Amino acid sequence: MALQIKLVNSCAQADVLGCFVTEGDLVAQIDSLPVQISNLNQILIDRKFTGAKSANICLPLNHAGYKYLILAGLGKAKNTEPYIENLRRAVSEVVRGSESCSAKSLAIILPAAQKFNVTNSYLIEQVCIAAQLANHKFDTYLTDKAKKEVNLELSFVLDANFGDLSQLQAALNKANLMGNAVNQARQWIDLPANHLTPTILADKMVEVAQKCGLKHTVFGEQEIIKMGMGGIHAVSRGSAEDARLVVLEYKCDDTNAPTVALVGKGILYDTGGLSLKPAQSMETMKEDMAGAAAVVNAMQVIAHLKPKVNVIGCAPLAENMPSGTAGRPGDIVTFYNGKTAEIKNTDAEGRLILADALSYVIANYKLDAVVDIATLTGACEYALGNFFSALISNHDDLAQIVTQAGETSGDRVWRLPFTDDYKSCMASNIADLSNIASGRFKAGTINAACFLQNFVKDVPWVHLDIANTAYNLGMLPYYRADSATGVGVRLLVEFVLGMQK
Ligand code: BES
Ligand code: ZN
Ligand code: ZN
Repeated sequence: MALQIKLVNSCAQADVLGCFVTEGDLVAQIDSLPVQISNLNQILIDRKFTGAKSANICLPLNHAGYKYLILAGLGKAKNTEPYIENLRRAVSEVVRGSESCSAKSLAIILPAAQKFNVTNSYLIEQVCIAAQLANHKFDTYLTDKAKKEVNLELSFVLDANFGDLSQLQAALNKANLMGNAVNQARQWIDLPANHLTPTILADKMVEVAQKCGLKHTVFGEQEIIKMGMGGIHAVSRGSAEDARLVVLEYKCDDTNAPTVALVGKGILYDTGGLSLKPAQSMETMKEDMAGAAAVVNAMQVIAHLKPKVNVIGCAPLAENMPSGTAGRPGDIVTFYNGKTAEIKNTDAEGRLILADALSYVIANYKLDAVVDIATLTGACEYALGNFFSALISNHDDLAQIVTQAGETSGDRVWRLPFTDDYKSCMASNIADLSNIASGRFKAGTINAACFLQNFVKDVPWVHLDIANTAYNLGMLPYYRADSATGVGVRLLVEFVLGMQK
């Protein structure tokens, strides 16, 4: 493990000391720091450090063994934005700052939870997860040791207001599970498609399931074809790699517990197929299995936390390639639920594999809710930018529960409209559906959801489009440029916890 986190009561010895300040009134805050630097107030003025959100400053320190002091800004508390997010970012800035100082150890003095209007354990949980995310680096193929992820010992220093440390241990444990799960999702997504095929990923998923005692089933491509999953086959048939359908099951001991299914898009690489993508849009398409990675890694946390909810995790895995055996624009396919679709564009492949996977969980389990998560449409980024994933739903209460899980976890979502007016967009004259919308419908993210709705019957359903949040969000300090975010893991876990009666 590259990051070891401890909770301590008094200032721990470390290479770097991290402290937080809110914007404004720096003089009083500097006075109450546990270390003093002469002229600090003037230095901060000269360096224009005001304690603003995401600002930080690193100063050399020669005090009680510390080599550096990093001050990170929390900004101002505003009602319209979750203040705890400022703290997640500030913690991440400190972790990254200590990485730049080549520190081996870091002590961070935490502000009081009351300041953020949250409980002590929630604050601990969130800062520990943020630190785990900030420290993670995809370094598998870097041969220069100096560029690899650093091993860091991190102590969070808690004052007496936090009470008994042993009571906070559960929060730290949950955070470690969560942090590791998000980082493992990121690792899988960052692995390029020449190192991660559907078969290899399915094997990794089985390994996860075995480690945490989840029931698991893996269908191979021949079984997928035999079961009538024409969508997965249509996508996978152009690839030399076989498709897989991975199903994991977590069963709790409460016979009255609700049952939910989580379904994640797992396209190991999306070339667009014969409707080939232009080179630039293809560049990052190893990310197209981020939904599947989120589902399986959330399942891992769920298996450890044992909530009173039954959870099915389902990940259809395939590669979308052009070749002599590839599916063609104009082909008509039949899905697991018997519906047919005309494939007008082979680049709209995610909805095809999700159609079979959704039909499968709907037909084989008695579900109270189903949530799918997918890097589904480029349009999502135009609709929302990069700070909210898109949520579309046929059920207001479920939409609300998932939205709240997004707020709690930090994986925020924004609901898009889904009224009947949109729903005629996927019509075809020669099949039940077309896989792309007719020209006058421009809301690509909503159009894709209209397609998927044909495969969920009337089960309460939430669709999450993470095409805009799964990759390359270097502007957030706990993520890195040209790397995966692991978006959805935190949200799905909190969603399942929130479904407990
Ligand atoms: N995997 C892509 C969507 C995507 C785009 C994910 C950018 C991440 C970043 C998806 O399979 C796709 O190609 N969608 C098409 C659909 C269109 C053909 C209707 C798109 O968004 O252009
Ligand atoms: Zn595509
Ligand atoms: Zn895709």
